[in-house]
Order: sequence, then C-alpha cells, then structure tokens
Amino acid sequence: MEDYYNKIAIVTGGASGIGQALVEELGKQGAKVIVADIKLETTTSEGKVQTVQVDVSRAEQVQSLVDRVVSDYGRLDYIFNNAGISIWGEVRDMTVAHWNQIMDVNFKGAMHGVMAAYPVMLKQGFGHIVNTASLAGLVPSPTITAYSTAKHAIIGLSTGLRLEAEEFGVKVSVFCPGFVNTNIFNSGIYLNSTREDVLSIIPVKAIEPGKAVQQLLKGVSRNQAVITTPFYTKLFWWVHRLNQKLSDVPNRKTLTDFRKIRKETAQVSQEEPVKFEGMVDHELPARTRNKS
Ligand code: NAI
Repeated sequence: MEDYYNKIAIVTGGASGIGQALVEELGKQGAKVIVADIKLETTTSEGKVQTVQVDVSRAEQVQSLVDRVVSDYGRLDYIFNNAGISIWGEVRDMTVAHWNQIMDVNFKGAMHGVMAAYPVMLKQGFGHIVNTASLAGLVPSPTITAYSTAKHAIIGLSTGLRLEAEEFGVKVSVFCPGFVNTNIFNSGIYLNSTREDVLSIIPVKAIEPGKAVQQLLKGVSRNQAVITTPFYTKLFWWVHRLNQKLSDVPNRKTLTDFRKIRKETAQVSQEEPVKFEGMVDHELPARTRNKS
C-alpha cells in the first residue's frame, strides 16, 4: 500500500459517505487532509484535517481552494474529486435545469478540480488526480441517464488525461463503484417517483463506504486507470464490452420495474437544497490529531 503519511490530500464531498470514509482512512494513515464540501458537518478523523466550505460547481471556489492548499503546504499530492449528487427519473420527466444541475456538480465539479490541480502537479512533476465516476459511467443506466451522462464524461476526462499526464509524472485514476450505502439516496432528486419506491427496485445490496474506500485506495496504490468495486461492477462492465445486447437485458428489467412505480403526474421530491455563495473556513474539529 502507498504511504500516505504526511501526504497532502484534498477530498471534495468529504463531509459524507464515500468522501467521509476516505477522509477517515487517509487521516488514520497520517495524511494531511483538506475536506472540501458544500455542506460541512463535523468530520471524524485521526489525522490532521482542515475543512473548507466549497461549492465545486463554482470554478473560482475550487481554484482558491487549491491555491490556498499549495500556499499553506507547498505542494499537493492528491486531489480526490468526489463530490456528487443524484437525479433519478426518465429523461422525459427532466428539465434543462436538471441537466445543468447534474452536469455542474458532477462533471464540472470534477473538471474544476482537474483544471486547478493539474497545473500544480505538472509544475511539481508528481501528484495523483482521482475522480469519482460510477458503474453508471461505464454502462448505459436508464432511469439515471443524466447522472450516467455526467459520469461517462468524468471517465472520458480521466482516461484521456491519464495518457497526457503520464510523461510528466502525474497520475490519473477514476473510481467507478456500484451501489454504496450513503446519503446520496436521501439527498437525491426523484422525478415522478419517490425515494422509497426507487430504493425498492434496486436489484443489489449496497456496500458500506469503508469497504468501497479500501478498494479505492488499493487501486490508487496500484495506479489503476479504472477502479471498480464490488465484483458485480467488473462483471457487468465486462459483459457490456463483450456484447451490449447482453447488458441491455438487466437494464431493460430495471426500466420496466421503474415504470411500474413511475407516477404520471409531475412530481419532484428532494431535501431542502444547500444554499451557499462563498468559500468559508471552518475550525479544525477538536478531536483531530496532528501527527507531524
Ligand atoms: P453523499 O451524498 O454521501 O456525499 C456526497 C457529498 O458531496 C456530500 O457531502 C455533499 O454535501 C457533497 N456535495 C454535493 N454537492 C456539492 C457541491 N456542489 N460542492 C461541494 N460538495 C458537494 O454521496 P456519496 O455516495 O458518498 O457520493 C460520493 C461520490 O460517489 C459521488 O460523486 C457519487 O456520484 C459517487 N458514487 C456514489 C455511489 C453510491 O451508490 N453511493 C455509486 C457510484 C458513485
């Protein structure tokens, strides 16, 4: 495994779910972690953690975050562009505003992280960019087509940039997990459907974020281009590449199941969205420990 002791790592979306588990694991291994999230709650970590409120859909906020980290620590070893949201429902029930929302946070959020961190890493001659996509970025995913589109874009960005960057000592990986048990299902936007109904038709059990992060960090250590977990994601991706007609079978079943729970009348359910206009520093949680 890679030695994360004293490494400088930015984790976007680090206040919850996969990002939070990643912050905890990197902290345990002695990294200096900068948690960037639009919504900041107390993060539990054993390492040195700095938290900054950032909206990744705003290029200037991501740029200031990276500038500040480089000015404070003198370098940037990792950026995990992990922040994301979900929109469930068919394209026929979406508006252009929904498309903009998911592309702004999920795709542009990662792209802003790349555009701020890559020049720093080029100058250093080292660094690892890790973008979070999804299994939905590797295969068609009806009923989450917009989410899947944004995740396909992240994979295109990551796999192309990986080849451009390797000669300069910069590594790029993309993380494509299947279902992980996180808050993304509570905070998601459900079009003409409800969260409970959508969850009832998901055919697999979600894994815990800690388990996803173990596989993620294993892949990062090996500098894998595409990191997937759990096993069914590898299988589904392989079947899809072998013959798309085969991977269309379970996808058609998901669509049929969704259409049984889809409501004809327009209906959008979502938690109150976070409203935030600037970049804010938060004090270090009292229980953090500085190993350096
Ligand atoms: P989560 O909802 O638990 O965590 C996402 C974090 O991103 C939250 O803390 C949220 O506040 C933050 N965030 C949302 N919009 C933001 C913005 N504009 N600026 C800054 N931070 C923002 O969800 P989870 O599952 O941990 O998601 C992490 C990543 O993993 C996402 O990119 C998601 O698409 C991806 N993913 C999740 C899967 C799952 O089943 N949970 C499966 C595949 C990928």
